[in-house]
Amino acid sequence: MSDLDWGNLPFGYIKTDYNTRCYYRNGKWGEIEVSSSEEVSIHIAATTLHYGQEAFEGMKAFKGKDNKVRLFRWEENAKRMRNSAKGVMMAEVPDEIFIASVEKAIKLNERFIPPYGSGASLYIRPLLIGTGARVGVKPADEYLFMIFVTPVGPYFKEGFKPVKMMIERKFDRAAPLGTGNIKVGGNYAASLNSLDIAHEKGYASALFLDAKEKKYIDEAGPANFFGIKNNTYVTPHSDSILPSITNMSLVTMAEDMGMKVERRRIPVEELSTFEEAGGCGTAAVISPIGQIDDLGTGESYVYDMEKAGEVSTKLYHRLQAIQAGDEEDKFNWIKVVEL
Ligand code: PLP
Ligand code: COI
Repeated sequence: MSDLDWGNLPFGYIKTDYNTRCYYRNGKWGEIEVSSSEEVSIHIAATTLHYGQEAFEGMKAFKGKDNKVRLFRWEENAKRMRNSAKGVMMAEVPDEIFIASVEKAIKLNERFIPPYGSGASLYIRPLLIGTGARVGVKPADEYLFMIFVTPVGPYFKEGFKPVKMMIERKFDRAAPLGTGNIKVGGNYAASLNSLDIAHEKGYASALFLDAKEKKYIDEAGPANFFGIKNNTYVTPHSDSILPSITNMSLVTMAEDMGMKVERRRIPVEELSTFEEAGGCGTAAVISPIGQIDDLGTGESYVYDMEKAGEVSTKLYHRLQAIQAGDEEDKFNWIKVVEL
């Protein structure tokens, strides 16, 4: 076991022992290879470098009280990565290669899996890039699928404490019919200016509005948005947000807990009517939102900066209990990794 300060890990990169690589050449995927190098050597004209042919995923493995290692809904990540690949015309990674690589990366880095109860987890980062050389704008003929893992703490340094977010109207993350609904690097590049403004002004993140009308909530930086009112879980329906696996799971749990669920457009002004608001994602888990300042209109939407709301708290604990194996896997979301 590595001697990291498990309870105080940031959400950042810590070197682990091995990563996996799998090459797509001549129309087919090769064997999964293991590397201990943190570097990748690719052609200077690789399409990933010039034309953004790349997609990534984010998932987590958790150690339980029973010392078993659990993966959460990996099939959904594999499916989303295939979808992202299609979206920027890359070769799709078959599920067998995806899961075999994930399991290999976890096993080979077992000593970096944070212990039960530390609040940390092993973050898994699958990455698919176009490596074939092109100068004209065309898809590559060669691809590389890699996975590295790294132990992480909470994405927002506040952990499960309310954060402040802001809305600014100078930059869009994703075009209405663009790539906002797939997990490609360009979306994150496009979000950097807004996030920088947010951080500069002391906000945890930016809340993005729909790019076309600037009237509706899209998502909360690297997380989906939800609001709670009248025993209802409300989350945006939008073609330009990433379909969050965490959000999907919260929807299922909310329904199971007797709540109503609405997936629809959420006008900015509706923020004043929620009893609770939050961001959700693999990295963020649930991040309660205590206040949202709209820098465009000067409006502030204040929830509770002291503590997370009751519903968010329930959802957060239940999700974590399922992931750690403390609660029965009622929805069949867990795969135990054989070490
Ligand atoms: N939205 C964006 C833009 C993200 O990067 C992420 C993280 O993956 C999410 C939402 C949350 O998705 P998930 O719950 O599948 O991690
Ligand atoms: C995740 O939640 O896994 C993400 O990918 C967010 C990230 C961009 C840090």
